[in-house]
Amino acid sequence: MITHKVILGMALSIVFVSSPSFGSPGTGRHNVKKATAAKSVFGKMADGTTIDLFSLTNAGGTTAKLISYGASLESLSVPDRNGNFNDVVLGFDDLKEYLGEHPYFGATIGRVANRIAKGKFTLGGKEYSLAINNAPNTLHGGKEGFSRKVWKGEIIGGSAGASVRFTYVSPDGEEGYPGTLKATVVYTLTDQNALQIKYTASVDKTTIVNLTNHSYFNLAGSGSILNHVLYLNADKYTPVDSTLIPTGEIAPVRGTPFDFTAATAIGARISQVAGDPGGYDHNFVLNGPAGRLKLAARVSEPTSGRQVEMWTTEPGVQFYSGNFLDGTNKGKQGAIYAKHGGFCLEAQHFPDSVNHANFPSTILRPGSLYRQQTVYKFSTK
Ligand code: GLA
Repeated sequence: MITHKVILGMALSIVFVSSPSFGSPGTGRHNVKKATAAKSVFGKMADGTTIDLFSLTNAGGTTAKLISYGASLESLSVPDRNGNFNDVVLGFDDLKEYLGEHPYFGATIGRVANRIAKGKFTLGGKEYSLAINNAPNTLHGGKEGFSRKVWKGEIIGGSAGASVRFTYVSPDGEEGYPGTLKATVVYTLTDQNALQIKYTASVDKTTIVNLTNHSYFNLAGSGSILNHVLYLNADKYTPVDSTLIPTGEIAPVRGTPFDFTAATAIGARISQVAGDPGGYDHNFVLNGPAGRLKLAARVSEPTSGRQVEMWTTEPGVQFYSGNFLDGTNKGKQGAIYAKHGGFCLEAQHFPDSVNHANFPSTILRPGSLYRQQTVYKFSTK
């Protein structure tokens, strides 16, 4: 049972959520803290619109902070093997920085994550043209995409833990995509140190959709991620051309630097991955059925002992080793995010799916509900 007690202050509301799994009579765990959820002001847009900051803290002290700008994960503080907390995601302290140029730190990506070749697709016999924001292609929704929209956020209770629900209604034709698309993203922090993200979307005209989260993780809290050890539950991947558009081939990873079916340091073979700037920025085809939650990836960091598992209902995951990070973004508390300073595991349908009949479809029709669930489970070893 979840009970809420809301304290309204000037610009602050706090919700205390009693955890179903801790502190209940008879468990003998009377000193365990309760999960909390709080809302405060993160900043203001030029037109005065308030950007909210939601802080979810679980019974063990793990904290996830989310902002309504881009429905983004702003920070995630999790313990190492000695119980010391560190923020393990890249981002900024101020809204001003989120409004400037940055590579999608923590953001919700939509309507269509990843690339669409030359910004063109055909649906129902009609050709659609999108903004070319990553020449010669469209990347992550276009010029603004969902990562630069102000979402409506609210704290909600749930059986799994404290949650924030973000909603955004994308008007028909926004960024060139057909149909009015209603999207929701619910972040839940559980007492088991899992950050669960559930997406839904519906539309009034046939369209395409592929939502994801673009958090950059660094399990040590700073430095290079090349020493992090990665397992990917993927026997296949989608090779790309020089503009990072899939060739259409679904190729085995075996015998290539893309084989992470046995846990391997990210940096071990990264120099063998060609391209400019090189490094991993590829879609992996997850083993197992799409639509059901399955283990996609496990990453551990030897010094801190932190480990994250990613579970998803999606058919693919873009593993990106932060190749374009170059130190220009000044991060939280003055952090410099240099090349390979963070990695992303973006659960998704494959890039440019709309132009590849052999890829799982990203088409959403009126009357159907788009659903995506991804969970990042933290632990130590
Ligand atoms: C995704 C893309 C990368 C890069 C980053 C942002 O992961 O696949 O190529 O664009 O976003 O810099």
